[in-house]
Order: sequence, then structure tokens, then C-alpha cells
Amino acid sequence: MTYNQIKGSAEYILAQTRVRPKIAVILGSGLNPIASDIENATRIPYKNIPRWNSTTNPDHEGVLIVGTLDKIPVAVMSGRLHQYEGNSMKECAYPIAVFKAMGIEKIIITNAAGGINTGYNAGDFVLISDHIKFFNDGPLTGEDASMFGTGRFFDMSDTYSEYLRNRVAGAFEAESGKALKQGVYAYMPGPQFETPAEIRMLRALGADVVGMSTVPEVIMAAACGIKVLGISVVSNMAAGVLSQKLSVDDVNETCASIKGDFKQLIHTAVKILEEEK
Ligand code: HPA
Repeated sequence: MTYNQIKGSAEYILAQTRVRPKIAVILGSGLNPIASDIENATRIPYKNIPRWNSTTNPDHEGVLIVGTLDKIPVAVMSGRLHQYEGNSMKECAYPIAVFKAMGIEKIIITNAAGGINTGYNAGDFVLISDHIKFFNDGPLTGEDASMFGTGRFFDMSDTYSEYLRNRVAGAFEAESGKALKQGVYAYMPGPQFETPAEIRMLRALGADVVGMSTVPEVIMAAACGIKVLGISVVSNMAAGVLSQKLSVDDVNETCASIKGDFKQLIHTAVKILEEEK
């Protein structure tokens, strides 16, 4: 990952559109219906962007949409890259480095996740307050993050900005009457769902939700000085919480059932991020 490659990807994207977004949104599994709300949209398949890997997950579209949402310029990733597709964390996080080079300052990162906290239910929205990652691979391994201006050893203590979280939670609750949860996201690389013993371990360590994405992108955002709002949709209760097997069909079904509220949350979140200078 060189600065010239990152710059080349950014220049390719910016040459396709006159829109100059400062906010990016990553849409997780089954969460792409908001894509149809984007106006003045230029759709750029990942496979056309130099150096940017394509996604192989059929539930992920693999298109970068640059346009406006409620007149606010945005870059929206409809579909993302995962480690379980064979990508390193660096590849998963590469788009975030490109966003930095495009002038993006804030990012909303969404995912479908398993609920570990027994106070949660399928269909709940959780603003991510922090994360847990155990694994050796990392998006900045072997890289000098000083190319992004933050230096090799960068801070992660308020990466999921508490201020932004509380503002978005307050605004969404006032508009919809629905309270958002806030919780810790544990990264597990998949593609298998976790075992019940792993879920008990994660709960003991303080995790509230679990998923196979988001963390590589968030670490890169922190390295780039991009502000993050993380949103998990609890698509299922995690392994062993309920006496039923996990299936991707249930994940997709839950995501389809909450799409109206999820769209509203993204509209609200984009508006609040735009207001925050
Ligand atoms: N575990 C990991 N990733 C997930 C889950 C889960 O239970 N649900 C949706 N993504």
C-alpha cells in the first residue's frame, strides 16, 4: 500500500463525478436499501477502481456510490471487503485510506452483528462505543501510518466518538421515539459463526455484539484521523444465546425487516455529521 496507489484510486474516483464528499458511509450485509435514496448518483464498481479489491459476498453489491443524501455530498460503499473472502485486514481497510485522500473527514460504518448482550433483541440498533480485536493481522501492520499524518502509534481511546454517538442517539430518539443501544463490538474473522463457548468468552470480556467486519476499517480511520460513527444492527442473537441454529437467511430477514428505521437512522446520522465541523 503506497501513497501513490492510494492517490491513484482517489483520483480515479474523483474523475467520475463532480460531487466532493466529506462524509462516507459503509453499508453492511443486507443494509443497502438506503443506496436508492442517493441522488445525483455516480455508481463506480469496485472492480473498476485501481488497486481496490472486489467483494465476493453475494449479499454485498460491490459498488461505490458518490452522490447526495438530503443534499449532503456522500460516498457510500454498497458492500465491503471481508477477511473471510481471503483479504488481509490491509485490503479490507484500503478504501478508508482512499477516502482520506479524497478529503473524507467522517465515516459511518455499519454492519449486521450477532447479539451477545442478553438484553438485546434481533432488530435492535447499537451504536458502537468501542471494539475488541484479538487477531495478529492488522491494517497498519508493516505500514508507516505517518503517511496519513497521525504517526505509527496512534490513539484509539475515543475512536467511536462519544460526542457524536450521543448526538445521533438523541436526535434519532427525538425523531422516531426509539432508543438506541450503545455497546462494544467484538471482531471475529469468520466465515463460520462463533461457537457458543466463544460467545460466552466474548460476553465475559465485555462484548455486546459480534461480527466479521468493521474493525479493520475503523483502525484505518483512526490512523487517518477520520471521525467514526459505528452502527450494528442485531441481525440475530449470537450462538448459544437462544436454542436455535444460526443462518444467514435469518440475518438477511432481520435486515430486510428493519430497513425503514435503518434508512431513517442513516439520514439522521449523515445530517448530524454534516453539522459537526
Ligand atoms: N456472528 C458474527 N457475525 C455476524 C453474526 C454473528 O452472529 N450475525 C451477523 N454477522
